[in-house]
Amino acid sequence: MPVNPVRKFGRSFFACRAKLLNPFWEVWYWYISSLDKDKEVIFLNYGYADHNKLELKKEDENNRYSIQLYNHIANSIRLEGLDILEVGCGRGGGASYIARYLAPKSVKGIDLCKKSIDFCKKHYHVKGLSFCHGNALSLPFMDNNFNVVINVESSHRYSDMERFLGEVYRVLRPGGYFLFADLRDEELIKSLRKQLDNCRLKIIKEEIITPNVIKALVLANEKRMDLIERLVPRFLHGLTKEFAGTKETALHKSFVRGKKEYLYYILQKD
Ligand SMILES: C[S@@+](CC[C@H](N)C(=O)[O-])C[C@H]1O[C@@H](n2cnc3c(N)ncnc32)[C@H](O)[C@@H]1O
Repeated sequence: MPVNPVRKFGRSFFACRAKLLNPFWEVWYWYISSLDKDKEVIFLNYGYADHNKLELKKEDENNRYSIQLYNHIANSIRLEGLDILEVGCGRGGGASYIARYLAPKSVKGIDLCKKSIDFCKKHYHVKGLSFCHGNALSLPFMDNNFNVVINVESSHRYSDMERFLGEVYRVLRPGGYFLFADLRDEELIKSLRKQLDNCRLKIIKEEIITPNVIKALVLANEKRMDLIERLVPRFLHGLTKEFAGTKETALHKSFVRGKKEYLYYILQKD
């Protein structure tokens, strides 16, 4: 079939834009980590809300919507007794939730941001939970090492999604699951689906969870505005609100207008 040059340009433009923005986001995650002296920020995702209210311990209530996102993603598979890898674990809130609530044998969190991993190593002391610094595109683990790989709101920053999916396939044991959730601009949704179709893992569930993410953003808005007010220097408020997806930001509006979607997949290795 002939290649449509406009489409081809569009795809290269978005891939190139992702590559150029990567160093910026690395610095940004590092900076966010530096601001949070009182360890208030342990999640960096947009959250999930529906009509169910997940039962949580009092100390987790502050992070309800971010935890509910992990719960929605992780809870479709019984994780009890399994070895879990979380790629792009950020400040470790999700890995800690899984280790404390879902009874896996082990949870290993890995992230490109060294400062976040230093934070995780210092902050969490949970049996079976550990962290290491590393890149999603070159995972420092042997083949067939994990029953489940989890990846939440991180892959849209990767410069080579196919390579990441190859790494997930390699480190998963036969029969293992890849639990994956992230946002994409509408132009990139088809190419994500193609990447997943071609990655040798079988798609067993596919869900658009944008309405639940918008609901969580609205419910968490006040708390996020308060955190930004307290932690972030004024000249960075606009940028931080955009990052946090608070109301009236371009990011929030692009979810509402369907310009971005939040997708959730379960895939399995044969
Ligand atoms: C939006 S945060 C989400 C963190 C966490 N999953 C959560 O929900 O709180 C994205 C994370 O992906 C990490 N990341 C970006 N590129 C990465 C890569 N190539 N390898 C590993 N982690 C990466 C960032 O450092 C950041 O911590």
